[in-house]
Amino acid sequence: MNSVSVRQTRREDIPALIALQKYIYPTIPAWSERKLHDQLEAFPQGQIVAENEEGLLGCASSITVVWDDWEEAHSWKEITSSGSFENHNPLGRTLYGVEVFVDPDSQGKGVGHLLYEARRNLCRSMNLKRVIACGRLPGYHRHADNMTAEFYAQKVVWGDFTDPVLSFQIREGFSYCGVMENYIPEDTESCGYASLIVWLNPDYRSDLPVNLLEKKIS
Ligand SMILES: CC(C)(COP(=O)(O)OP(=O)(O)OC[C@H]1O[C@@H](n2cnc3c(N)ncnc32)[C@H](O)[C@@H]1OP(=O)(O)O)[C@@H](O)C(=O)NCCC(=O)NCCS
Repeated sequence: MNSVSVRQTRREDIPALIALQKYIYPTIPAWSERKLHDQLEAFPQGQIVAENEEGLLGCASSITVVWDDWEEAHSWKEITSSGSFENHNPLGRTLYGVEVFVDPDSQGKGVGHLLYEARRNLCRSMNLKRVIACGRLPGYHRHADNMTAEFYAQKVVWGDFTDPVLSFQIREGFSYCGVMENYIPEDTESCGYASLIVWLNPDYRSDLPVNLLEKKIS
């Protein structure tokens, strides 16, 4: 694959991102242009794309949250304010992964790894405590008649099953913390379930403030 680079999302990327998202998730409603503009307005530093000479290959989007506000239960819609990122809280010390996807033609070639690395770097450079995300479990529907989502996820963690998303996240250094119900109800592959995962920033300094970084939107 041609060399891949990662950078902050720009407004001009929006049509290509929507097209890619529709292609990747035929059953889940895609973001609107309005929502993507709102996301860039709310937290431009957290919106990242991967590209090569041929165009966009994928994206990773994040917000910061006060995790105590959300830890007991939440859906994707609730924590992201239906995708507008109004709940982005600059005082939060948790980077929350809202979305990550890679063009199917470019999957399995390290693009997802670069996007996750960029997310970890953002967490480090902002002096945030951790990255938390709720990952889809797209392999679960094949086993849903025989076992709970929790048991399925445990079998992925134990290495007995491979899930296209959770196996990747574990390989990226995330720890599995349990399953969430009705996280994205439209996600039929995951039967609405998601796995709660966390990566702790080893460089985090609780005695120092969050480094808010300069807000640049292009
Ligand atoms: C999950 C997802 C983002 C991963 O992106 P990706 O670009 O395929 O990720 P990578 O290529 O970095 O890693 C995927 C696998 O390819 C392997 N890989 C990476 N580089 C490779 C290379 N050069 N050659 C061969 N294999 C390679 C990795 O080891 C990894 O294996 P693992 O899954 O067993 O850990 C992608 O599959 C995706 O977009 N899925 C659909 C959308 C989705 O469900 N997103 C999750 C929302 S929660």
